[in-house]
Amino acid sequence: MEKRDQLYEGKAKKVFATDDPEVVLVSYKDDATAFNGQKKGTILGKGAINNRVTNHLMRLLEHHGVPTHLVRELSERETLVRRVSIVPLEVIVRNVAAGSLSKRLGLAEGTPMQKTVLEFCYKDDALGDPMVNEYHIAAMRWATEAELDTICRYSLKVNQVLGDYLKDLNIQLIDFKLEFGRTADGTVILADEISPDTCRFWDTVTREKLDKDRFRRDLGGVEDAYQEIMKRLMGE
Ligand code: TMP
Ligand code: ASP
Repeated sequence: MEKRDQLYEGKAKKVFATDDPEVVLVSYKDDATAFNGQKKGTILGKGAINNRVTNHLMRLLEHHGVPTHLVRELSERETLVRRVSIVPLEVIVRNVAAGSLSKRLGLAEGTPMQKTVLEFCYKDDALGDPMVNEYHIAAMRWATEAELDTICRYSLKVNQVLGDYLKDLNIQLIDFKLEFGRTADGTVILADEISPDTCRFWDTVTREKLDKDRFRRDLGGVEDAYQEIMKRLMGE
């Protein structure tokens, strides 16, 4: 497959066209941002780790019946994925209170919840990705009712599959963010990435944070945390 023009550059990835109109090439960067791009930095080796971790987890999800955009890993940092138009929503799945939910509701981080919580944010950097609900989504036609049903069902399935898998590796899945896309024929599939950038991973025993919160909050040991996740998931 031939790499062609760059289509898009985001905060953590670049996307290139290929000679197949249905397939694009994603290239993962070491750049890290937080707080809607206000904090900037580099996490050495992050691009390669996020590429490999994402593909590993997407293969696992495919195996459990969740369709994803993954086509084929090309190299350390590059992967071929199906071209989709992204549904302009970030889907947040929360098992334990942390981050912005802790702040909003005044709950200590680590507070267990009786039920998994789903939240939606409208993807718009200029607005700071505001939280919205299913009425906003229907009113603005960001997704149809059937699409949103599918998205919620897949999101809860991802939570179940990843939560069970990570538990055996002594990792607690606190929360994470997913994005979905539509293929040319309108099928909704899982897109974007699943990595320490987009999930909160806590060591089950020590409760140590093994994710991007180490960068967001200047906790140190950022690279080591990403390495540790890669090692537990892929044995290296
Ligand atoms: P939050 O607690 O800051 O709302 O984050 C919830 C989850 O979503 C957490 O696992 C980190 C992830 N996340 C992203 O992937 N991208 C983002 O831009 C934000 C704000 C959070
Ligand atoms: N990557 C996001 C940004 O820069 C936020 C985050 O992951 O905290 O806005």
